[in-house]
Amino acid sequence: MNAAPREGRNGPVRHFLDLDRFDTPTLRRVLDLGAAYKRGECPHGDKRPLDGRTLAMIFEKPSTRTRVSFEAGMKQLGGDVIMLSRVDTQLGRGETISDTARVLSRYVDAIMIRTDDPAKLSELSSHATIPVINGLTDQSHPCQVMADIMTFEEHRGSLDGKVVTWSGDGNNVAASWIQAAAHFGFEIRIACPPSLRPAEGAVAWARAKGGKVVVMDDPKAAALGADLIVTDTWVSMGCQDKNRPALLAPYQVNEALMALAAPGALFMHCLPAHRGEEVTDAVMDGPQSVVWDEAENRLHVQKGILTWCLL
Ligand code: CP
Ligand code: NVA
Repeated sequence: MNAAPREGRNGPVRHFLDLDRFDTPTLRRVLDLGAAYKRGECPHGDKRPLDGRTLAMIFEKPSTRTRVSFEAGMKQLGGDVIMLSRVDTQLGRGETISDTARVLSRYVDAIMIRTDDPAKLSELSSHATIPVINGLTDQSHPCQVMADIMTFEEHRGSLDGKVVTWSGDGNNVAASWIQAAAHFGFEIRIACPPSLRPAEGAVAWARAKGGKVVVMDDPKAAALGADLIVTDTWVSMGCQDKNRPALLAPYQVNEALMALAAPGALFMHCLPAHRGEEVTDAVMDGPQSVVWDEAENRLHVQKGILTWCLL
């Protein structure tokens, strides 16, 4: 109930939920804002554009990068943050997400949530009268992939016409990459075991938008000539499957796999990495790896997201 679109200060509330909810120019605008902040510019003409604004952050799963980059970014923009978790709020005693959304909307200016079930994100955004930002669910991680796109662009220019290979679990991060392919004109090849294929909804949406999405079993075929190779943990947060290492070992990103990619291909990983599992030390620490820039860019692109949501 009561899930009609909300009005914010400047028209409809601007949530940042999933990449399939946006038009491409809006995502381009957010990336450009992030890049401007990285260059030290003030794209809103103000060094503290979020002065007096507060972001509540709800973490139902652990985090290093998302937590610290949102907090640091908000403070650098002049705003403040309040950290919340299920255990130290009434969410842990059964208060509904919809009621929590209504109450937080009276205190703060935006909510970032990291949770398991995307239905919780949806419920929160349906009942909040302030922007809600997706800080990861079991099905997507859009803030991460925005940072990844920014990282590729700063190293190699436009992704249009490029080939991005994902080798490993067809997980939440992979789903956001698939959605990004439809926006930014690159081919995405997902190499994964048949039982760990990416969400069909993300693949179908991207293909319907004209995106080139190839799902295959063979990591070597997928890596051939790629401009970027990406992987992620074999065991995402909340996953109980003990068979993952056996299933995913052939998808490890190592020097042999990187050698099949195009000369100058990059390597990315959203982190945290499990060295020796999905990626070897030689690749993580090698010349093609841009994982530290990728982690840094979470900060910059999220400043773009925060200001797009709030200003
Ligand atoms: N990549 C990422 O979201 O990292 P954290 O889990 O540390 O936030
Ligand atoms: N796929 C990983 C991403 C962590 C940032 C997970 O969900 O645990």
